[in-house]
Parts: sequence; structure tokens; C-alpha cells
Amino acid sequence: MAVDCNGGESFKMPEIKFTKLFINGQFVDSVSGKTFETRDPRTGDVIANVAEGDKEDIDLAVRAARNAFDHGKWPRMSGFERGRIMMKLADLLEQHIEEVAELDSLDGGKLLTLGKAMDIPGAVNLLRYYAGAADKIHGETLKLSREYQGYTLKEPIGVVGHIIPWNYPTTMFFFKVSPALATGCTMVVKPAEQTPLSALFCAQLAKKAGVPDGVLNVVTGFGATAGAALSSHMDVDKISFTGSTEVGRLVMEAAAKSNLKHVSLELGGKSPVIIFDDADVDMAVDLARIATFFNKGEICVSGTRIYVQEGIYDEFVKKIAEKAKSWVVGDPFDPKVQQGPQVDKVQFEKVLNYIDLGKREGATLLTGGKRCGEKGYYIEPTIFTDVKEEMRIAQDEIFGPVMSLMKFKTIEEAIEKANNTRYGLAAGVLTKDINTANRVSRSIRAGTIWINCYFAFDNDVPFGGYKMSGFGKDMGMHALDKYLQVKSVVTPIYGSPWL
Ligand code: NAI
Ligand code: MG
Repeated sequence: MAVDCNGGESFKMPEIKFTKLFINGQFVDSVSGKTFETRDPRTGDVIANVAEGDKEDIDLAVRAARNAFDHGKWPRMSGFERGRIMMKLADLLEQHIEEVAELDSLDGGKLLTLGKAMDIPGAVNLLRYYAGAADKIHGETLKLSREYQGYTLKEPIGVVGHIIPWNYPTTMFFFKVSPALATGCTMVVKPAEQTPLSALFCAQLAKKAGVPDGVLNVVTGFGATAGAALSSHMDVDKISFTGSTEVGRLVMEAAAKSNLKHVSLELGGKSPVIIFDDADVDMAVDLARIATFFNKGEICVSGTRIYVQEGIYDEFVKKIAEKAKSWVVGDPFDPKVQQGPQVDKVQFEKVLNYIDLGKREGATLLTGGKRCGEKGYYIEPTIFTDVKEEMRIAQDEIFGPVMSLMKFKTIEEAIEKANNTRYGLAAGVLTKDINTANRVSRSIRAGTIWINCYFAFDNDVPFGGYKMSGFGKDMGMHALDKYLQVKSVVTPIYGSPWL
């Protein structure tokens, strides 16, 4: 398959305006003066050199955030005022949808059409959701058994470190930053080294909106240096992390070995989609295709284990193979394209290695299996059949456009197989039978269940994992709890007539 990499007619190279660290409201070079290259996955070419933050830069950023928390206005102003500033930030982001979407497409190979229609408008709306929540954070009145009165206060946890991945750079930035801002926390964001550009752009928008200096800092750099310095910092009160299981473990270890800071982890998955005989086959094929291949499979909730009941299995296999072949791979700036390149060479090679492994493990390659074109990191939508539960392609998160298709007979078998994973982030169930849908929903150990739909995210729907997919919720009102702590206040009551 040849890949057209000139972006179609609409392509224009976005201007890169911000490449330095954002600390205490200023763009600054790293203390070492070092920079690193961020690359265009369409070609592997360098887009920009970005300041490479390390321990000293994290120290400076944490100091700014600490000072803004201990002495600044942000945690002390009313929730209403914080909400107004956040609304202004949402308006500014809305005015720059195109520019921010272009940065993520260039840095991460994401489809520009979807960035403009979904990712960035979604971030705008999430900010507005939490702006609206900022003045509705309150505790409880407690009923004590003796002559006391008591109440709880929900207080911001303090300085938060957000360590975010590259697959949804702007979405992840606002998943983390929005509820943390609403609660009155201050923060340091460490974007992924593959996609640092949009976070820097959004940081200066926050300043324009009126977020005080030091409240929101961004330190670009690598995980093993800047990321590790943040998660082991003695003055950081919480780390909110999204990324690999392996690094999630390191973050928890660093927290345990430093100041026992709070940790929440979102660590990806290997989500099942269970398709029963009574489902509409065409709808099921469309949903399965989206579940696996959307965003080139670089989604933590991708549904990549597709379980199809035996009565419709053969028809499903035929139709999904046709659909995969008609999925358009190419330049993410071209509006006709449905799948861009994998984010970088490392991920590209990882995915191709898994495809090789699948063949060696004895699965049958139904379609795809190769790179597309000669340059850049494009991979064909790939489907394996005859996949066995114990194969690594059925157990590991591949994070690429690779589907494992499996057959089942009974509902019991489907539930058992779907739960046969160390992960528990999401699951899909396709059936017209409400009893089947209910039973499966309650039996699957995963944080989100989608019935007759997939990727149905919304602001008010809490999102997070079971099992080794991590813990702590993003989105919804639950996400506020990650950035709050509860204080109990108790005082005696003298002379009350009710005692
Ligand atoms: P990663 O877990 O290494 O990267 C995520 C973030 O963690 C980045 O900002 C990175 O700089 C930072 N990081 C790396 N090492 C660190 C350390 N020692 N201490 C603190 N922070 C550190 O993920 P990577 O290597 O980019 O991707 C590997 C695999 O992880 C993917 O193939 C995929 O399976 C999974 N992944 C899951 C994501 C999800 O949404 N849950 C997102 C990205 C990757
Ligand atoms: Mg890594």
C-alpha cells in the first residue's frame, strides 16, 4: 500500500511558537541549556528542538508551584472566581482549536479533522465542566453522638505532578489540569517527550486567561529524568499519571520511597468487545473496526480482543476483513484519511514486532500485517484469527492497529474469556437482549462498559481502571476527589437546648 504524505490539498505547516519550559509564568531555557528533538511521524524528520528539562528544572517548577500554593491567590480565591478564569481559558482554547489540533497532528500523527472536531473541542468542554464545578466543592455536616458539632472540609491536596502520554496530548493535558485547577491545586505538567508542543501552547493560554504565575508549570523532557524527578520530589503532594503499566509501577515506587505522595494511575488495557449472535452484524463490524483501529490503535481503551459468538462468526470475519481493507491509511492532514502514522519509530517497531510474534505464536493473519509505504511510521490495519487466550497478542497491550478475533459459544464462556486479562479498563457488549447486556455488564471487571456503542466518553462519565489498568478516576465529579483531601473539624456545643 502506498502512502500519500503530502497532506492532501489542505496541508500547511503550522508555526511552532513555544519550545521552552514554562515555569512561574515565563518561558525559560532548561538549566543545562539542553534541548531535544521532536519529530514528525509522517517522515521521521525533526519538527523543532524543545527545551530538555531535568531534575534542576523540576526543582524550579515545583518551587514555583509550592510558592503559588502556600502563599498565592489561587487556592484562596473563591471557587466561583477560579471557575471564571477557567471559563476564559476555555474560550481562548476554543479560539485556537485549529492551531492546537495542528500541533498534535504534526507531533503525534493524529488526524487533523478529528482534532478539530473532537479532541480540542472536547478539551474546551471538559474545562467548562470543571469550571462549573469549581464553586460546588463542599463537605458534609456531621451528626455526632455527643455534645459536639462537626463538619468536613474538602481542601486542595497541594502541588500536583501530572505525567501524561502522547496518544492524546491536549485531551490528556486537560483531563488532568482541569479538575486540579478547579480544586485550587497548583501543578507541574510533564508532557510526553514525543508530543511536547501543545502543552506549551496551552500553558501560555492559561496565563492569558488569568491563571496566576506558578499555578500551572510545564516542564518538557524525558521520563527517566524529568518524570522521575517529579515523581520522587519531596515537595510534590500527588502524582496523576497516565501511561504504561511499567512506568506506573516506577511512579508508585518513587512515591513510596520519597514522601508517600498520593498517586493515581491510568495504565491502559486490553479491552474485550463481546458480540452476541443477536447483534446487527453490520453495526458490530463497524464498531469493532472503530474500537481497534481508531487513532491508529493508540488508545488505552481500544477494544482489541473481539469475541464473536459462533452463529455470526463466519459472516463477521468476511465483513471485517473487507472493512479493514477499505480503511484509508495516510497523511493525517488529509481529510480523506482514517489512520495516520504511529507516534514514533519505537512504537512502530513495537507494533510490527507484535505482528511477527502473532504469526510465530500460530495465529492466522487475516489481513494487513505490514508497514505502509517506505517512509514514516504507517502500519496496515491488521487482523488475526485463530487467536488463543494465552497468546501474547491476546494478553499484551500492543497500542497499534492490531485486532485479535476469537469465537465463543455461551455467555459464560464469553464472560470468562473477557475477564482473562490482567487489565480492566473497558469492555464493549453488543446484543439486543437486555438480560444478556445486564449480566455481562455486571460480570466484567472493568471500569467502563459500553453497551451497543464504543468510546462513548462524556464529561460527566467517570473514567478509570480496575485491576492493573490502575486506579483513580479522570472525568466526572469523581476526578475532583483525586485532587482533594478531607479535613474533619469538631467543636463542642455548650448550652444547646437540644442536648
Ligand atoms: P511511558 O509510560 O513510558 O510514557 C508515559 C509518560 O511517562 C511520558 O510522559 C514519559 O516521559 C513518562 N515516563 C517515562 N518513564 C518515566 C519514569 N521513570 N518516571 C516518571 N515518568 C516517566 O509510555 P511509552 O514508553 O511512551 O509507551 C509504551 C507503552 O505504554 C505503549 O506502547 C502503550 O502500551 C502504553 N501506553 C499507555 C497509555 C495509556 O493511555 N494508558 C499512553 C501511552 C502509552
Ligand atoms: Mg517509555
